Amino acid sequence: MPENAPHLIDGKQTAEDIKVEIAAEVARLKEAGQKVPHLAAILVGHDGGSETYVRNKVLACERVGFGSTLLRFEDDITEAELLAQVQQLNDDADIDGFIVQLPLPKHIDAEKVIEAIRPEKDVDGFHPTNLGRMVAGLPALLPATPSGIVELMARAGIKTSGQHAVVIGRSNIVGTPVSILLAKNLETANCTVTLCHSRTKNLPEIVRQADIIVAAIGRPEFVTADMVKPGAVVIDVGTTRVTDANKKSGFSLKGDVNFAEVAPLASRITPVPGGVGPMTIAMLLLNTLRAAKGEIYPKK
Ligand code: GUN
Repeated sequence: MPENAPHLIDGKQTAEDIKVEIAAEVARLKEAGQKVPHLAAILVGHDGGSETYVRNKVLACERVGFGSTLLRFEDDITEAELLAQVQQLNDDADIDGFIVQLPLPKHIDAEKVIEAIRPEKDVDGFHPTNLGRMVAGLPALLPATPSGIVELMARAGIKTSGQHAVVIGRSNIVGTPVSILLAKNLETANCTVTLCHSRTKNLPEIVRQADIIVAAIGRPEFVTADMVKPGAVVIDVGTTRVTDANKKSGFSLKGDVNFAEVAPLASRITPVPGGVGPMTIAMLLLNTLRAAKGEIYPKK
């Protein structure tokens, strides 16, 4: 399948369009003599995937004219030390938003760290206050990957209203929040949503009923042709690193969808890489801009 096949959903280009819009807004803020948005990231340890994500987030900040700060710590940082760092960022008036890259080492309670982030600086949208406000339909900082999926489908002209979306995977970061967003009474959502997970009976049969499939389980090539109704829209959130001797890096990224099998059946499909991944970063930048402008939580 050629990379520029017309039914490919180009997340890279869409994210680029959003970054151009954000950069224009940053230029306007500067002209008005206002402070430029500033995003900070905490990275613990040396996980290859996390290093890449955080590096791309910092580069994206530079690209749109945001300030950025990367705080790196070794794997042996204690929970108390990490919580103290979170507190410092909470109290730093120059930092508009920050993220703690996940996963964290096992001796650190990630939930406790997330809860320590002030909701108005929680640009990942992981804090229970933001998740609760999202569920209640109140203005909130929305989690970046789920809102990126909704935005990507909207900008690709995909009709979601009344469609049956089947989400595979119930993680706190993607599966659970995207199932809530897709069911919202919004023109860009309005789906009938089924959430499948490891205990779901007859999973292939349910996925086969989907007009829209969102695969977010983290198992490479889990979705095969027999699970896909011809004409379905397929959104692949997976980014598992698998060994690949043909690549200089020694690995390639594999999605949760068997692309070679499924792409010929799908009406539209996201590639990996270049699909959902770049959208996550674009939405993180958008959340940081919103936090800086006090759009969700007015600045005191
Ligand atoms: N790990 C995987 N995805 C994400 C994300 O969107 N944010 C953070 N903080 N960690 C992640």
